[in-house]
Amino acid sequence: MEPPESRSGIAARADFSIIRYAQCWEDADVLLEALDIHPGDRCFSVGSGGDNTLSMLVCAPAEVLAVDLSPAQVACIELKAAGFRVLPHAALLELAGITASTRRDDLYQQVRSALSSASRRYWDANLAVLERGLASAGKFETYFALFRRWILPLIHSRARVARLCDPRSVAERRAFYRDDWNTWRWRALFRIFFSRRIMGYLGRDPAFFDYVRGDVAAPLLCRAEHGLTDLDPSRNPYLQWIVLGRFRTALPHVWRPENFERIRNHVDRLRVEQASVETALGAAADGSFDRFNMSDIFEYISEAATEGVFDAIVRSGRRGGRVAYWNMLAPRRRPPRLAARLRPLEPLSRRLHDQAMTIFYSAFFVDELV
Ligand SMILES: C[S@@+](CC[C@H](N)C(=O)[O-])C[C@H]1O[C@@H](n2cnc3c(N)ncnc32)[C@H](O)[C@@H]1O
Repeated sequence: MEPPESRSGIAARADFSIIRYAQCWEDADVLLEALDIHPGDRCFSVGSGGDNTLSMLVCAPAEVLAVDLSPAQVACIELKAAGFRVLPHAALLELAGITASTRRDDLYQQVRSALSSASRRYWDANLAVLERGLASAGKFETYFALFRRWILPLIHSRARVARLCDPRSVAERRAFYRDDWNTWRWRALFRIFFSRRIMGYLGRDPAFFDYVRGDVAAPLLCRAEHGLTDLDPSRNPYLQWIVLGRFRTALPHVWRPENFERIRNHVDRLRVEQASVETALGAAADGSFDRFNMSDIFEYISEAATEGVFDAIVRSGRRGGRVAYWNMLAPRRRPPRLAARLRPLEPLSRRLHDQAMTIFYSAFFVDELV
């Protein structure tokens, strides 16, 4: 039986007062290629850790509206945006917990006045989180840290884990996976740690699995093999963070030095709202947005609520616009009755899904508003 759904049903079923995602775990390069944002576009974006929303500013849109129902996530987005406004690139990476720092308190004092009063109050009360390193602070990042500190050492030596991220050809990666990595311990402990129960309690929230059916670990193990063989770990920042706890030879789009000025130049075009997607889209005028980054929020809500959000997208979107969204464990698509309004860009979706460095999603969709 499906749980009861309210306008923001997930807000009543899970705790949104904590930081869940200190980083964005959806490949930003894939998102940007999918959305193909043009200068002057108006964009809607599920906020999360803020990284991908900030990356969207690289394309000089007229506006990016970031929406998240969690005050903690809004505080993360605003802190990073304030960092872009006020700090040079190296200091921004320190403040965000991407690189080591002994002066995060000082850096916070520099950006503090660029925050909204609610986010200022949040960070004043949670300065210790910043000092320890924001990028590791979310529940999801803590889950990966548990895997890295307690499970991975039971499977492979530190030297072998470090070698995983060395540059190799596809053939060499397949041989490394077959001969060195894919042991019975890897398969067994992976299946336990990434099971529905452990992931629900330690990584996400049991409520996020309300609409997930079947075994979750087995498909994730297949995706892991794809990520370690077809894709190149030496170019995968997300995988590096999971297994090494730092970015060794690759950075997510938002932190790359070459993107810094272009994001900073447009950071005033970012608007952040603490609201549910349902409320924010419901309040938007017809034809308000050209681009929608919907993250994987459909996974958290029922099929009926998903249909309601797609109706709102079709109403508030403009012709020629694009909608991008991920499925992780629950299959979610735009309803068939909207086929005439939202055309799936199938070859593009499939290609981008295959190349996504965030390997734990089962599908990625790009639909065009027609
Ligand atoms: C859907 S979660 C997924 C995170 C993503 N997979 C990642 O790792 O980057 C992203 C954000 O959506 C927010 N969220 C979930 N459901 C929402 C809703 N109905 N309205 C607004 N925000 C929502 C959560 O607070 C979270 O910060």
